[in-house]
Amino acid sequence: MVGRLSVSDFRHEALDEVGSTNQECLARARAGQDGCLWVTATRQTGGRGRRGRAWASEPGNLYSSLLLINPAPMSDIGTLPLAVALAVHRAVCRVLPFGGSEVEVKWPNDVLVARRKISGILIEGEFLPDGRHAIVIGIGINIRFKPDNPAYPVACLADFGATAFPEEVFAHLMDAMANVLSVWDGGRGAAAIVDEWRSVACGLGEAITVNLPDRSVHGRFSGIDERGLLQLDRDDGQREMISAGDVFFG
Ligand code: BTN
Repeated sequence: MVGRLSVSDFRHEALDEVGSTNQECLARARAGQDGCLWVTATRQTGGRGRRGRAWASEPGNLYSSLLLINPAPMSDIGTLPLAVALAVHRAVCRVLPFGGSEVEVKWPNDVLVARRKISGILIEGEFLPDGRHAIVIGIGINIRFKPDNPAYPVACLADFGATAFPEEVFAHLMDAMANVLSVWDGGRGAAAIVDEWRSVACGLGEAITVNLPDRSVHGRFSGIDERGLLQLDRDDGQREMISAGDVFFG
């Protein structure tokens, strides 16, 4: 994916009920379809969250996935989650009343309003039999309702006075994504993405716990590097660079 993209470079298929919009995009990729395809659904019966968790998907919220084919060399894919978070951040800002609660991004790509999770992003990839690399960017935005989650505080846009329907939030997301992917430019524009991400980062300098697949680490969140890795200044004085994990404040 090279150069400037606009909304008209993307196709959009709006579905009613599906298992998962991510699954739909992957099925279309396997069937030979091109990238730059958005799939949205009113409701998902098998919405997928990170780490194998389910994503509750009743009507009223946004469920969307974007299929990209060969978006960047594998070595440059690492900053894509940050770019996606910026697109969601921009879309959310556009539908919230002006001057309200702070909208921030928690590493790597959770968008928070008043420190409560408002969206989820699940990026999945697959090499297709014909050698193409399919990447599916799944985005759920809580608009009318918030799923219960004991692990962290959650919210929906309506809690903060937003009145937009999923279609309107999606229109902003589509527009913001075209802009952000133009800047990201197949990874060549990663530095600009990382800079913008830092400007909306939540919890810089604060104490955090990062849950990794095999352990938890505690320390101070001192920033992200140019590849988008989280810099954790651990309590034992060592700096650890983290590529994947769940961040909790405190
Ligand atoms: C998370 O666990 O935070 C990520 C949740 C991602 C949910 C979205 S909803 C649209 C797309 N389709 C899915 O099945 N999952 C993603």
